[in-house]
Amino acid sequence: MPSRIISVANQKGGVGKTATTTNLGTSLFDMGHRVLLVDMDPQGNLSSSFGSVSPTSTTIADALLDRQVSVPVQTVYSRDGAVLDLVPAAVSLATAEAALLNKLGREFRLREQLASLADRYDFIFIDTPPSLGLLTINSLVAAQLVLVPTEARYFSLQGLHMLQESIDEILYINPHLRIVGILLSKFDRRLREEQTVAAYLREHWGDLVFSTSVGTNSKILEAASSGVPLIELNGSQRAVETYRSLAREVLGRV
Ligand SMILES: Nc1ncnc2c1ncn2[C@@H]1O[C@H](COP(=O)(O)OP(=O)(O)OP(=O)(O)O)[C@@H](O)[C@H]1O
Ligand SMILES: [Mg+2]
Repeated sequence: MPSRIISVANQKGGVGKTATTTNLGTSLFDMGHRVLLVDMDPQGNLSSSFGSVSPTSTTIADALLDRQVSVPVQTVYSRDGAVLDLVPAAVSLATAEAALLNKLGREFRLREQLASLADRYDFIFIDTPPSLGLLTINSLVAAQLVLVPTEARYFSLQGLHMLQESIDEILYINPHLRIVGILLSKFDRRLREEQTVAAYLREHWGDLVFSTSVGTNSKILEAASSGVPLIELNGSQRAVETYRSLAREVLGRV
């Protein structure tokens, strides 16, 4: 299978972008696919989700600013001889975003960098920051697919329309970009507001909303903050099975 590049994006903060990237990526890895995760968020939450990553001499920020520098790739998890790779974030991504503004081809920098890695992986997932700035734009230009995690809250709906507008803009320079699916990523089905918004989303966006929804689950939070993959945590079976089911849906759509 040729490499699929999937950007995980929603400009709203804290909706589960990083948790989705980490756990869906790990799930597909666990199912035998070759997976690379790319942390495009200066906050570096994806990188921290795999514990402490060792500092590299050059960073993704350097690689975005200078075409002669390649993105650093680290192995963050291995199982049965297979490895899960990560391009870690750097705090300097924030300043790189500003510096990129003066660069020629500023929207294409990540795409160019990933082109040389693509044949080594079946899936490349890019975790994006909660903004529609140049780092997110680079991620959307590099990808063929966007996966949109969202909360089932009224305020999320407006955010989804904004994201759709940005994707429509990106189509001018990346005409093949499409939404692979919208994921209810922190769904609390006990709350009436969440039930109503979830029903609205399914009505309005139809099959684009994944049938799988990820419920609020303390193991997901624990995995992210302890830096231990979900599949390694005791008592995480339900959450693990949910992400597997999401992975099967993604496989059916790519
Ligand atoms: N299904 C879930 N159940 C419980 N906690 C969750 C779930 N999904 C995510 N979280 C937690 O909620 C918080 C926000 O999630 P996450 O960091 O994935 O969101 P984000 O969209 O990447 O945020 P940001 O916009 O800051 O990058 C984190 O502490 C995460 O561990
Ligand atoms: Mg995040």
